[in-house]
Amino acid sequence: MSEKVLKEAIEKAQREIDKMKNVTSEGVHRQKYHFMAQTGWINDPNGLIFYKGKYHFFYQYNPYGSFWDYMHWGHAVSDDMLSWEYLPVALAPSEDYDNHPKGGCFSGSAVVHDDKLWLIYTGTAYDGKGYVQTQNAAYSEDGITFKKYEGNPLIKAPEGVPGDLFRDPYVWKHGDSFYMVLGAGRNGMAQALLYRSENLTKWEFVNVLAQSRGEWGFMWECPSLFELDGKYVLSVSPMGAGERTCVYMVGDFSYETGIFVPQYTGEIDWGFHYYAPQPFKDEKGRTIMAAWANCWDWMPFFKDWGPTYKENWCGFYNIPRVVTLNEDMTLSMKPIEEIEAARHDGKVQENISVKDSLDIVKGYCYDAEMEIDLDRTDAESFTLILRRDGCFKTAVTYDLKAQEIRFDLTDSDGWSSGVARAPLYLEDSTKLDIRILSDRSSIELFNDEYRTNMSCNVYTVGEDEDNLLKVEKGQVYISSLRAYQLG
Ligand code: FRU
Repeated sequence: MSEKVLKEAIEKAQREIDKMKNVTSEGVHRQKYHFMAQTGWINDPNGLIFYKGKYHFFYQYNPYGSFWDYMHWGHAVSDDMLSWEYLPVALAPSEDYDNHPKGGCFSGSAVVHDDKLWLIYTGTAYDGKGYVQTQNAAYSEDGITFKKYEGNPLIKAPEGVPGDLFRDPYVWKHGDSFYMVLGAGRNGMAQALLYRSENLTKWEFVNVLAQSRGEWGFMWECPSLFELDGKYVLSVSPMGAGERTCVYMVGDFSYETGIFVPQYTGEIDWGFHYYAPQPFKDEKGRTIMAAWANCWDWMPFFKDWGPTYKENWCGFYNIPRVVTLNEDMTLSMKPIEEIEAARHDGKVQENISVKDSLDIVKGYCYDAEMEIDLDRTDAESFTLILRRDGCFKTAVTYDLKAQEIRFDLTDSDGWSSGVARAPLYLEDSTKLDIRILSDRSSIELFNDEYRTNMSCNVYTVGEDEDNLLKVEKGQVYISSLRAYQLG
């Protein structure tokens, strides 16, 4: 019976997608090389995995409109994470434990077991008052059609954890066991809970892996734990921690105690539009992170979700990034090298002293990298004027004196607003590296060897924008500038 309900729900969603996808594809704000759904709303990346020779991205998905609602899991596969083939919707609400009319199948992750692809996700049920979140499983023999596990729900909220603060399972295998980290809140403090299983269906609670003492909010959405060069990284998307909405902690973790001890804390991205990142390891051994390039209405800098809803869609993912650990315990997050193969029409300039302004590149779809020689720079600040078109422009100021980057969206597109800020650590530096990845509806900035990154959505309709570097006083010395068209 329930298999039938699921099948019908998926077929209905597919009919809606087929009806809308051609009109949606005409949208002038559609991205050229970032991951999007064919139509409808998307948020968090779910179940990212390299499986049977392909990258699989699942995603929080509402195929019925361009705003968040009744959550499904969309599904797409790719060879390079730049161009995508869409597969049928993988999960749709169909059971008592996952069919809350304002909920559905919430975020989760994917893992291979017994030659099957398993999706472990949060179901949201309605109990007459609010949300009841539980952890559930679905599995597939072919990686395309999924069956919900008959014994769902697998895990219910423990004592003291409210039913609506218990979600987003991230599962991985270690030795012969599976582990799960879950986002939760207890007594007003965010927690990451650790569970263990031998078979993915019977789970035991291990420990509170880590928790906020007040500084990191009341709930951690979409937590993940992964190993990098002998250290462990806990990444969380905190609710209630002000503008800090995607945090990483580097530290030590013991499988025996189930406790993570943080030693260094950083921000994965300082822009307005980067949330709920999920990491996975690919066959090349890379740890790759993809995130939802948008924000929620509870965030202090939220304005709205942008103008794309008029084109029947909303949401895309930031360019996937390869995560590496530096000696100082910071993380670097560099866009996947696949993007470099998509570059064309490159222009290289070297040893330029800029006293007024310098053209970087033309257009809206590009990849530009520059290195600034700080020893030969005496300006106290300079500004990247990006995507200037008529009265529109996005201004990114590098304040070398105050050691801060200010990403100003005030005049970007007649839609966006606000100034995103990030710290610059320049004390002993002799150079500053900057990379700009621009697409039709986004600008991603990478600085300081990919340690300090900022993603903001900027909506373009023009084709021929100017992008330049401007100096008001003094000089900026650029040792190299390489700019390429993309898409
Ligand atoms: C994070 C989140 C998750 C939840 C999902 C619902 O963006 O709120 O905690 O599972 O989105 O779509």
